[in-house]
Amino acid sequence: MTEVAERLEELRDRRLYRRLRLVEGPQGPRVLLDGRPVLLLCSNDYLGLAAHPLVREAAAEAAMRWGAGAGASRLISGNMEPHRRLEQRLAGFEGYGEALLFGSGYLANTGTIAALAGRGEVVFSDELNHASIVDGCRLARAETFVYRHADVEHLAWGLRQAEGRGSLIVTDGLFSMDGDVAPLAELVGLARDHGCRLMVDEAHATGAVGPGGRGTVAAAGLTGEVDLVVGTLGKALGSYGAYVCAGGELVEYLVNTARPFIFSTAPPPPVLAAAEAALGLLEGEPQRVERLRANAATLRGALAGEGFAVPDSETQIVPVGVGDAASTMALSERLLERGVFAQGIRPPTVPEGSSRLRFTVMATHDPDELRDAARQAGAAARELGIAVGESSLAVAA
Ligand SMILES: Cc1ncc(COP(=O)(O)O)c(C=O)c1O
Repeated sequence: MTEVAERLEELRDRRLYRRLRLVEGPQGPRVLLDGRPVLLLCSNDYLGLAAHPLVREAAAEAAMRWGAGAGASRLISGNMEPHRRLEQRLAGFEGYGEALLFGSGYLANTGTIAALAGRGEVVFSDELNHASIVDGCRLARAETFVYRHADVEHLAWGLRQAEGRGSLIVTDGLFSMDGDVAPLAELVGLARDHGCRLMVDEAHATGAVGPGGRGTVAAAGLTGEVDLVVGTLGKALGSYGAYVCAGGELVEYLVNTARPFIFSTAPPPPVLAAAEAALGLLEGEPQRVERLRANAATLRGALAGEGFAVPDSETQIVPVGVGDAASTMALSERLLERGVFAQGIRPPTVPEGSSRLRFTVMATHDPDELRDAARQAGAAARELGIAVGESSLAVAA
């Protein structure tokens, strides 16, 4: 047996092995999964825009007008009109001076953190931040201080210990696996008091949370107070890619120092055109965000009615704690047999012992099918004898 085969075997033994499943056709509230019709409750296409006719048309037209690819990085010859135009629209949407596109949220986070936190400095990161932030901290030459989840006292202590060497506080705005929101007002205050920059990753909040889908920072009334806001095009905006909003000087600095921006091919025009069309739909039809919020409340209420411990939040990410990876995956599989696809989330995505079923709601779900999904989840948990009334999640209410 090779060393790689042994490692794969170990992953299987620990119920941490992952395999790809095939979704046939476009994203939507119902899809064919490996040939079977299921209700999709684990897509990040929160507003149902990935398959919207106007979004598809915009991508197709851009492919005909601008071609399929950008051909080079932005600083070589890949900087095209669709990049500049979308950046201006995104900056306006977010209420920031400038926006800078990246190939993905992963690249935006790794590139920006590594560019801003240098040798001899300290970057402060919430313990439940997304893997792309964790990896950005690893890439940065700075030290990393990981503070307990949303614990501003712990962060304040860390900042004091750093004695002025703190350069950046970084947090998810809406936590991707827990569905709760960062204590942004306190973070802004601490950043100010200690002369640090604050960076908020709005990946799951862009288009989904806050006024008109402008995210957690806008919802907290802190637009402009947060130094850098990372938004994504790949989730509620139905396309692919990401952007960083900041003041002009910071953006100029990122253009000159963020390695994924400098050394990676620019995002392709059809992808940008799709995102721009989705942004237009979001601005023109803010009721989509309201529908998402209402659907999230429906699912949360229905799951609680089935006896699940549902964390106290209002967002479209609805985790229910199970605990160990094996039970979580068994529950996910049993639910799938009942026609509902909600992904089981295990380490290393979440800490050991906090595996969970993570439901994500879309604006295009029908409330009745969400209620039925909760009933199926309750029945599946009872069949398996899994106790779900006491949450093992870090942020449980
Ligand atoms: C909080 C957060 N940030 C960043 C990313 C990465 O974004 P992308 O999928 O565009 O690489 C994700 C992806 O799920 C995420 O959840």
